[in-house]
Amino acid sequence: MANIINNYDLSHNNTMALSSTARHAMILDSSDTLADDIRHAIDFAAQHSLPLFVLSFGSNVILPNELNALVLLPRIKDIKVLDDNADSVTLEVACGENWHEFIQVCLDKGYYGLENLALIPGLVGACPVQNIGAYGVQVSDFITKVIAYDLTNGQRHEFGANDCQFDYRHSFFKDNEGRYLISHVVFKLHKDERKTLTNYGDLSVMAQVFATKNGRDLPHPIDVFHAVVAIRESKLPNPAVLANCGSFFQNPIIPIAQFNTLKAEFHDLPSYPIDDQVIKVPAGWLIDKAGLKGKGVAPILTHQKQALVLTNHAPYTATQDDIRTAQDFIVHTVQDKFGITLVREPVWVK
Ligand code: EPU
Repeated sequence: MANIINNYDLSHNNTMALSSTARHAMILDSSDTLADDIRHAIDFAAQHSLPLFVLSFGSNVILPNELNALVLLPRIKDIKVLDDNADSVTLEVACGENWHEFIQVCLDKGYYGLENLALIPGLVGACPVQNIGAYGVQVSDFITKVIAYDLTNGQRHEFGANDCQFDYRHSFFKDNEGRYLISHVVFKLHKDERKTLTNYGDLSVMAQVFATKNGRDLPHPIDVFHAVVAIRESKLPNPAVLANCGSFFQNPIIPIAQFNTLKAEFHDLPSYPIDDQVIKVPAGWLIDKAGLKGKGVAPILTHQKQALVLTNHAPYTATQDDIRTAQDFIVHTVQDKFGITLVREPVWVK
């Protein structure tokens, strides 16, 4: 059985490096005892009138100084092959597997599809929640099932891909934040190296560079993997070196008429088509164009190479309030210049 630990330090458990202490924490690292551990956690939380809070890698959260909760840390590791045939493989992966390392394991074995999602910080159990995406791929393209425990009653549920209600940075689990603990994710990956996707912006050029370097005519999934790693390393700060929680804002989706008005004034405004009513514009471009690249309210500054990312600087004394101050300053500045209200992406924990 997992123990309940008092006053658990979370400062190394959130990539924004905010100092935070959980009133209680429980490390869940065994599939065998998981159902019992969750029931025990539910009873304990009820007895102490505390909420339960699931914290995975902490790469998409803004934590408070004191987290008055029983924090559940899902850390189960396991990669099980459920089906393996000439075209595809189906894998059941436990929540505590490191996302990037899991992709490396897949590529080593010839299982393809996730290479575009390389280097996204986090653990497997969190990937369905905000339907992580990058370079033309969303994880929902490959998820066939999610196994999760309902933290209101401890019951185990299996969610098919449709039940997950995946959308851009969205899912059923995001709508029901805090209610479920995801224990396993089932992926169906393909074995056809020609199906790898390279048609996203600067990825096509970079993937071809790696293909040529490796003596290939066309990019192999491994070339795509290396290209994504290279692009991300060139623009996105490594949280182990410079504290951050990835994209701080969602890319806003605006009406076409508003886009046309803006485009007439800002000819270089990039956009991604959605449908004939609305269009997506990059928040990073808006923040950059508003003159805020590398700026903010110290010690919370946008990244020098990608204005969409807020970074926290040593000696890491910033609190949630400092993040809110920098966030509000950026939102107001962008609102004044473009009439667009940015919406935060990471979860604000109370
Ligand atoms: N741009 C600027 N200045 C900046 C930042 C961006 O002009 O400071 C411009 C870029 O030149 C480009 C456009 O804005 O024309 C979009 O930038 P980029 O291709 O870097 O992607 P993004 O829209 O900023 C999204 C995801 C990232 C993901 C990349 C690549 C969201 C909110 N973010 O960023 O996700 O890695 O695409 O697919 O959808 C994350 O969620 O943590 C994350 C990093």
